[in-house]
Amino acid sequence: MNIHGQPHRSIEAAHANRTARIIDQTLLPHLVEWRELETLEDAAEAIQVMRVRGAPLIGATAGFGMFFALRDDPSDAALQRAYDTLHATRPTAVNLRWALDRVKLAVWPVPAEKRADAAWNEALAICEEDVQTNHAIGKHALELFRAIQAKKADPAAPLNVMTHCNAGWLACVDWGTAISPIYQAHDAGMNIHVWVSETRPRGQGASLTAFELREHGVPHTLIVDNNAGHLLQRGLVDVVIVGTDRVTAQGDVANKIGTYMKALAAKAHDVPFYVACPVSTIDWTLSDGIRDIPIEQRSAREVTHMPGLNAEGRREEVLITPAGTQARNDGFDVTPAHLVTALVTEHGVFEANGEELAVLRARL
Ligand code: MRU
Repeated sequence: MNIHGQPHRSIEAAHANRTARIIDQTLLPHLVEWRELETLEDAAEAIQVMRVRGAPLIGATAGFGMFFALRDDPSDAALQRAYDTLHATRPTAVNLRWALDRVKLAVWPVPAEKRADAAWNEALAICEEDVQTNHAIGKHALELFRAIQAKKADPAAPLNVMTHCNAGWLACVDWGTAISPIYQAHDAGMNIHVWVSETRPRGQGASLTAFELREHGVPHTLIVDNNAGHLLQRGLVDVVIVGTDRVTAQGDVANKIGTYMKALAAKAHDVPFYVACPVSTIDWTLSDGIRDIPIEQRSAREVTHMPGLNAEGRREEVLITPAGTQARNDGFDVTPAHLVTALVTEHGVFEANGEELAVLRARL
């Protein structure tokens, strides 16, 4: 999608010297700074400190990380070391393991001298497929949006979509998952408006989703997370759509902390709650999301401090609590399947339950 009118992807391969370029998302929305990844350590660090984030983009970056490691040392031991290093960076998004498994499978049968090439090609394939996948998710979800729009008392009024965190192109390679249908609706001339939830503590809604939508010219309004229930209660939301970091085989959904509360409020007010979900985000090995999905525990500092631009235009972090306040920072929560209206995948729309997902799995 566009930054200042120029098309970009969140991760771009530089073929000449075989590096990968990322936008440093810790600096957005105030600074658009590109950064070159050249080593396994660069890739692991970028994921760990969230220069790149969002389940699909974490996976894509890890793919390049495997290539960097194998370029330096194509041995089995180095392959496993790279896998373990990257896998340890963040625990919740299963796309990380999915991408690492893909690269491992692609290089394993290949002679040592060809492993780096195989890894590079697989990393590129993961990126290309991500773009197609997200476009397809957007197409399927757009049909749902159109059906909801058609049922509105005034079909000319804007379709009010609520989202949480950032599941846009910055979370993927391009398009995004939950934001893909929003772009496609806007591009098709649909009257659409987005409630962007700030997403404390790191503010991915305020800093990333608001940035993306602004760059693309999509009408949107920023709200604090606690405003969601109020808007749903007043009939100001037609549909909620979010991304996900891991879905179980029974349809439980892990996503950014605060998603569960939105799902509860949507259910209470009979508003559809959709989850945009590439098949790479389904963890077929898990059934009970609340019991089994690992939830990332992050630094208390993200809760007690807030970053922003000061009056001189410099980035600064300020303390917002009494010094020394204890804080807890769960990165994600789990929305049980019964609160999910449907999962929108690249293969179409599926109910969030074991039977329906088994039908999907049989098709893959
Ligand atoms: O901690 P983050 O910013 O990596 O969390 C991202 C999310 O929760 C997204 O909603 C999820 O990864 C889906 S991205 C298409």
